[in-house]
Amino acid sequence: MKIVVKKDYESMSKAASEIFIEAIKVKPDITLGLATGSTPKGMYKELIKVHKEEGLDFSKVKTFNLDEYVGLSHDHLSSYGYYMDNEFFNHINVDRRNIFIPDGKAKDVEKHCREYDEMIINAGGIDLLLLGIGVDGHIAFNEPADALSVKARIVRLAQSTIEVNSRFFNSIEEVPKTAITMGMGSILKSKKIVLLANGVNKSHVIKKLLKQDKVTPKLPVSFLLLHPDVTVIVDELAYNG
Ligand code: GLP
Repeated sequence: MKIVVKKDYESMSKAASEIFIEAIKVKPDITLGLATGSTPKGMYKELIKVHKEEGLDFSKVKTFNLDEYVGLSHDHLSSYGYYMDNEFFNHINVDRRNIFIPDGKAKDVEKHCREYDEMIINAGGIDLLLLGIGVDGHIAFNEPADALSVKARIVRLAQSTIEVNSRFFNSIEEVPKTAITMGMGSILKSKKIVLLANGVNKSHVIKKLLKQDKVTPKLPVSFLLLHPDVTVIVDELAYNG
Protein backbone atom coordinates (compact mmCIF):
# COMPACT_ATOMS: atom_id res chain seq x y z
CA MET A 1 0.00 0.00 0.00
CA LYS A 2 1.45 3.31 -1.05
CA ILE A 3 0.76 6.36 1.12
CA VAL A 4 0.92 9.85 -0.32
CA VAL A 5 0.54 12.77 2.08
CA LYS A 6 -0.49 16.10 0.56
CA LYS A 7 -0.53 19.52 2.17
CA ASP A 8 -4.25 20.15 1.84
CA TYR A 9 -7.53 19.08 0.26
CA GLU A 10 -6.77 20.83 -3.04
CA SER A 11 -3.43 19.11 -3.54
CA MET A 12 -4.91 15.74 -2.48
CA SER A 13 -7.65 16.18 -5.08
CA LYS A 14 -5.16 17.21 -7.76
CA ALA A 15 -2.89 14.24 -7.08
CA ALA A 16 -5.85 11.87 -7.34
CA SER A 17 -7.09 13.50 -10.54
CA GLU A 18 -3.67 13.07 -12.13
CA ILE A 19 -3.86 9.30 -11.65
CA PHE A 20 -7.30 9.24 -13.28
CA ILE A 21 -6.31 11.55 -16.15
CA GLU A 22 -3.26 9.45 -16.97
CA ALA A 23 -5.28 6.21 -16.81
CA ILE A 24 -8.01 7.58 -19.11
CA LYS A 25 -5.40 8.78 -21.62
CA VAL A 26 -3.70 5.38 -21.63
CA LYS A 27 -7.01 3.48 -21.89
CA PRO A 28 -9.84 5.65 -23.27
CA ASP A 29 -12.38 2.83 -22.76
CA ILE A 30 -11.36 2.33 -19.14
CA THR A 31 -13.84 1.04 -16.56
CA LEU A 32 -13.86 3.24 -13.47
CA GLY A 33 -15.33 2.60 -10.04
CA LEU A 34 -16.58 5.84 -8.52
CA ALA A 35 -17.31 7.08 -5.02
CA THR A 36 -19.58 9.76 -3.60
CA GLY A 37 -19.46 11.79 -0.39
CA SER A 38 -17.58 15.01 0.38
CA THR A 39 -14.11 13.62 -0.24
CA PRO A 40 -14.07 13.15 -4.06
CA LYS A 41 -15.79 16.44 -4.95
CA GLY A 42 -12.47 18.24 -5.49
CA MET A 43 -11.16 15.44 -7.68
CA TYR A 44 -14.29 15.54 -9.85
CA LYS A 45 -13.83 19.33 -10.19
CA GLU A 46 -10.27 18.79 -11.42
CA LEU A 47 -11.38 16.18 -13.96
CA ILE A 48 -14.13 18.50 -15.23
CA LYS A 49 -11.58 21.29 -15.60
CA VAL A 50 -9.24 19.09 -17.62
CA HIS A 51 -12.18 17.93 -19.76
CA LYS A 52 -13.23 21.54 -20.47
CA GLU A 53 -9.79 23.04 -20.92
CA GLU A 54 -7.84 20.20 -22.49
CA GLY A 55 -10.56 18.00 -23.95
CA LEU A 56 -10.05 14.97 -21.71
CA ASP A 57 -12.38 12.50 -23.41
CA PHE A 58 -14.86 10.45 -21.40
CA SER A 59 -16.90 9.25 -24.38
CA LYS A 60 -15.74 5.64 -24.08
CA VAL A 61 -15.31 5.53 -20.30
CA LYS A 62 -17.54 3.17 -18.34
CA THR A 63 -18.39 3.87 -14.69
CA PHE A 64 -19.71 1.80 -11.80
CA ASN A 65 -20.66 3.54 -8.59
CA LEU A 66 -20.01 2.02 -5.21
CA ASP A 67 -23.36 2.40 -3.58
CA GLU A 68 -26.84 3.92 -3.34
CA TYR A 69 -29.42 4.39 -0.60
CA VAL A 70 -32.38 2.05 -0.74
CA GLY A 71 -35.62 3.95 -1.37
CA LEU A 72 -34.11 7.00 -3.04
CA SER A 73 -34.71 7.52 -6.72
CA HIS A 74 -32.08 8.97 -9.02
CA ASP A 75 -33.71 12.44 -8.85
CA HIS A 76 -33.83 12.58 -5.03
CA LEU A 77 -31.49 15.41 -3.99
CA SER A 78 -29.69 13.20 -1.45
CA SER A 79 -29.32 10.17 -3.70
CA TYR A 80 -25.90 9.21 -4.99
CA GLY A 81 -27.34 9.15 -8.50
CA TYR A 82 -28.25 12.82 -8.21
CA TYR A 83 -24.87 13.58 -6.65
CA MET A 84 -23.01 11.97 -9.55
CA ASP A 85 -24.96 13.95 -12.16
CA ASN A 86 -24.53 17.16 -10.27
CA GLU A 87 -20.86 16.82 -9.28
CA PHE A 88 -19.52 15.06 -12.35
CA PHE A 89 -21.53 13.44 -15.13
CA ASN A 90 -23.46 16.55 -16.24
CA HIS A 91 -20.18 18.35 -16.86
CA ILE A 92 -18.28 15.79 -18.94
CA ASN A 93 -18.95 13.92 -22.19
CA VAL A 94 -19.61 10.51 -20.65
CA ASP A 95 -22.07 8.35 -22.58
CA ARG A 96 -25.14 7.89 -20.34
CA ARG A 97 -25.35 4.24 -21.48
CA ASN A 98 -21.96 3.66 -19.84
CA ILE A 99 -23.02 4.88 -16.38
CA PHE A 100 -23.99 2.25 -13.82
CA ILE A 101 -25.26 3.17 -10.35
CA PRO A 102 -27.14 0.79 -8.08
CA ASP A 103 -30.87 1.53 -8.30
CA GLY A 104 -32.23 2.47 -4.88
CA LYS A 105 -35.73 1.88 -6.19
CA ALA A 106 -35.12 -1.58 -7.65
CA LYS A 107 -38.22 -3.75 -7.16
CA ASP A 108 -36.24 -6.95 -6.71
CA VAL A 109 -33.12 -5.75 -4.90
CA GLU A 110 -31.46 -9.16 -4.73
CA LYS A 111 -31.82 -9.68 -8.46
CA HIS A 112 -30.61 -6.15 -9.09
CA CYS A 113 -27.49 -6.78 -6.96
CA ARG A 114 -26.76 -10.01 -8.83
CA GLU A 115 -27.07 -8.16 -12.12
CA TYR A 116 -24.83 -5.36 -10.87
CA ASP A 117 -22.07 -7.86 -10.11
CA GLU A 118 -22.56 -9.50 -13.51
CA MET A 119 -22.36 -6.17 -15.31
CA ILE A 120 -19.02 -5.46 -13.63
CA ILE A 121 -17.74 -8.88 -14.68
CA ASN A 122 -19.05 -8.39 -18.24
CA ALA A 123 -17.24 -5.06 -18.39
CA GLY A 124 -14.02 -6.94 -17.68
CA GLY A 125 -13.85 -5.78 -14.06
CA ILE A 126 -12.93 -2.36 -12.74
CA ASP A 127 -9.62 -0.97 -13.98
CA LEU A 128 -9.36 1.93 -11.57
CA LEU A 129 -11.45 2.31 -8.43
CA LEU A 130 -11.88 5.42 -6.33
CA LEU A 131 -12.69 4.92 -2.67
CA GLY A 132 -13.46 7.16 0.26
CA ILE A 133 -13.49 5.85 3.79
CA GLY A 134 -16.06 6.03 6.57
CA VAL A 135 -15.00 7.06 10.07
CA ASP A 136 -15.74 3.45 11.11
CA GLY A 137 -13.46 2.08 8.38
CA HIS A 138 -16.21 1.21 5.90
CA ILE A 139 -15.50 1.22 2.19
CA ALA A 140 -18.46 1.72 -0.13
CA PHE A 141 -21.17 0.68 2.36
CA ASN A 142 -19.33 -2.43 3.55
CA GLU A 143 -19.79 -1.70 7.24
CA PRO A 144 -17.80 -3.38 10.05
CA ALA A 145 -19.32 -6.82 10.65
CA ASP A 146 -18.52 -10.38 11.71
CA ALA A 147 -18.06 -11.28 8.04
CA LEU A 148 -17.98 -9.25 4.85
CA SER A 149 -19.80 -10.37 1.74
CA VAL A 150 -17.99 -10.72 -1.54
CA LYS A 151 -21.13 -9.77 -3.47
CA ALA A 152 -23.19 -6.65 -4.03
CA ARG A 153 -26.08 -6.64 -1.60
CA ILE A 154 -28.41 -4.68 0.60
CA VAL A 155 -26.84 -3.63 3.92
CA ARG A 156 -28.02 -2.04 7.15
CA LEU A 157 -26.11 1.18 7.77
CA ALA A 158 -24.18 1.62 11.01
CA GLN A 159 -25.66 4.20 13.36
CA SER A 160 -22.42 6.24 13.10
CA THR A 161 -22.75 6.27 9.30
CA ILE A 162 -26.37 7.43 9.55
CA GLU A 163 -25.27 10.22 11.89
CA VAL A 164 -22.30 11.29 9.78
CA ASN A 165 -24.26 11.20 6.51
CA SER A 166 -27.25 13.07 7.95
CA ARG A 167 -25.50 16.27 6.85
CA PHE A 168 -26.63 15.44 3.31
CA PHE A 169 -30.30 15.26 4.41
CA ASN A 170 -32.79 17.69 5.98
CA SER A 171 -32.86 15.63 9.16
CA ILE A 172 -31.40 12.42 10.56
CA GLU A 173 -34.84 10.77 10.29
CA GLU A 174 -34.67 11.16 6.53
CA VAL A 175 -31.45 9.10 6.19
CA PRO A 176 -32.31 5.66 4.79
CA LYS A 177 -31.38 2.82 7.14
CA THR A 178 -30.32 0.52 4.30
CA ALA A 179 -28.29 0.81 1.14
CA ILE A 180 -27.05 -1.22 -1.80
CA THR A 181 -23.30 -1.61 -1.82
CA MET A 182 -20.72 -3.03 -4.15
CA GLY A 183 -19.31 -6.15 -2.49
CA MET A 184 -15.75 -6.66 -1.31
CA GLY A 185 -15.22 -8.98 -4.31
CA SER A 186 -15.63 -6.33 -7.00
CA ILE A 187 -13.64 -3.89 -4.89
CA LEU A 188 -10.69 -6.22 -4.34
CA LYS A 189 -10.74 -7.46 -7.94
CA SER A 190 -10.27 -3.89 -9.19
CA LYS A 191 -6.91 -3.64 -10.90
CA LYS A 192 -5.90 -0.42 -9.22
CA ILE A 193 -7.40 1.34 -6.19
CA VAL A 194 -7.06 4.95 -5.05
CA LEU A 195 -8.37 5.75 -1.58
CA LEU A 196 -8.79 9.37 -0.53
CA ALA A 197 -9.18 10.79 2.96
CA ASN A 198 -9.03 14.35 4.18
CA GLY A 199 -9.73 16.28 7.32
CA VAL A 200 -9.17 15.72 10.99
CA ASN A 201 -12.27 13.52 11.41
CA LYS A 202 -10.58 10.85 9.27
CA SER A 203 -7.25 10.87 11.15
CA HIS A 204 -8.34 8.24 13.67
CA VAL A 205 -9.29 5.66 11.04
CA ILE A 206 -6.28 6.50 8.82
CA LYS A 207 -3.93 5.99 11.79
CA LYS A 208 -5.62 2.66 12.46
CA LEU A 209 -5.21 1.61 8.82
CA LEU A 210 -1.55 2.57 8.70
CA LYS A 211 -0.78 0.62 11.88
CA GLN A 212 -2.84 -2.37 10.77
CA ASP A 213 -1.07 -5.65 9.96
CA LYS A 214 -4.13 -7.92 10.14
CA VAL A 215 -7.19 -8.02 7.95
CA THR A 216 -10.41 -7.97 9.89
CA PRO A 217 -14.06 -7.50 8.91
CA LYS A 218 -14.28 -5.19 11.93
CA LEU A 219 -12.24 -2.75 9.86
CA PRO A 220 -13.34 -3.33 6.23
CA VAL A 221 -10.68 -1.04 4.81
CA SER A 222 -8.01 -3.39 6.24
CA PHE A 223 -8.75 -5.80 3.34
CA LEU A 224 -7.01 -3.34 1.04
CA LEU A 225 -3.75 -4.50 2.67
CA LEU A 226 -4.12 -7.68 0.58
CA HIS A 227 -4.35 -5.79 -2.71
CA PRO A 228 -1.20 -5.34 -4.81
CA ASP A 229 -1.95 -1.84 -6.13
CA VAL A 230 -3.52 0.56 -3.63
CA THR A 231 -2.57 4.21 -3.34
CA VAL A 232 -3.88 6.06 -0.30
CA ILE A 233 -3.80 9.83 -0.74
CA VAL A 234 -4.45 11.87 2.38
CA ASP A 235 -4.09 15.48 3.41
CA GLU A 236 -1.97 16.49 6.40
CA LEU A 237 -5.02 16.77 8.66
CA ALA A 238 -6.06 13.19 8.00
CA TYR A 239 -2.46 12.03 8.39
CA ASN A 240 -1.47 13.93 11.53
CA GLY A 241 -4.81 14.59 13.19
C1 GLP B 1 -20.16 7.17 2.70
C2 GLP B 1 -20.14 6.34 1.40
C3 GLP B 1 -18.76 5.94 1.05
C4 GLP B 1 -17.87 7.15 1.25
C5 GLP B 1 -17.71 7.39 2.73
C6 GLP B 1 -17.00 8.66 3.08
O1 GLP B 1 -21.04 6.70 3.64
N1 GLP B 1 -20.97 5.22 1.36
O2 GLP B 1 -18.71 5.42 -0.25
O3 GLP B 1 -16.64 6.93 0.68
O4 GLP B 1 -18.93 7.24 3.40
O5 GLP B 1 -17.79 9.79 2.87
P1 GLP B 1 -17.22 11.26 2.92
O6 GLP B 1 -16.32 11.41 1.74
O7 GLP B 1 -18.42 12.14 2.81
O8 GLP B 1 -16.49 11.42 4.19
